[in-house]
Amino acid sequence: MQNIVAGNWKMNLTSDAAESLLKDIVAKATGVSCQFIICPPFPYLSIAKDLIDGHPNIALGAQNCSNKTSGAFTGEVSCEMLKSSGVEYVIIGHSERRAYYNETHELIGEKLMRALENELIPIFCCGENLSERKAGSHFDVVSSQVKESIFDFLSKDQISKIIFAYEPVWAIGTGETASPDQAEEVHQHLRQCLIENIGDDGNQIPILYGGSCKPGNAKDLFQQKNIDGGLIGGASLKADDFVQIGRSF
Ligand code: 13P
Repeated sequence: MQNIVAGNWKMNLTSDAAESLLKDIVAKATGVSCQFIICPPFPYLSIAKDLIDGHPNIALGAQNCSNKTSGAFTGEVSCEMLKSSGVEYVIIGHSERRAYYNETHELIGEKLMRALENELIPIFCCGENLSERKAGSHFDVVSSQVKESIFDFLSKDQISKIIFAYEPVWAIGTGETASPDQAEEVHQHLRQCLIENIGDDGNQIPILYGGSCKPGNAKDLFQQKNIDGGLIGGASLKADDFVQIGRSF
């Protein structure tokens, strides 16, 4: 399976800073064997597209998409627009969108459907918050997130095209990483859910870890059997750190 390191820039950087970070990543990522995916804010997608064009192992992703197809939805960005702008991947179901924009399982399922209809590869995020972790309900939380947005909506064929990302909310932007064992047991659980639903093809689906992943801990995380790469927030804003994470397989 291809190792993947995706950078979620979130709502950061000016246009100039984005351009210079991209140039730095492009220069440094050459020759690194993993697949990098860069997910800048919408206004920088076309700058990014131009700068990474033709690069063998850097692809472009968006951080969000509309659940609608087209029409009078002011401020929304459709999957068709993303696809026609050279975007290949889209993050869907990030915990920040679930928490601050009230995205429901159903809405996330609709977004997944729009992405797949437009041949975008969704990076589907799931993960428990701190109180759910403390209550020991993390496996149940993740199970219901995948059931209600994915298994209830999508066919086997569609599911097999998705990249999964386990992002425990308590580890995002906090500096507190899930230990390799804590992450692996949830990844293994996700793998089991996938195999139960789509059979052996579930073994081929990438499952990324996200949450304070950085050069100092990436290697230990990526050594785990079911951790196929990372979804990186803060450390994706520094070219050296981001590319170093890509060298950690
Ligand atoms: P941090 O790497 O900043 O913890 O963010 C992770 C994340 O939310 C990626 O989507």
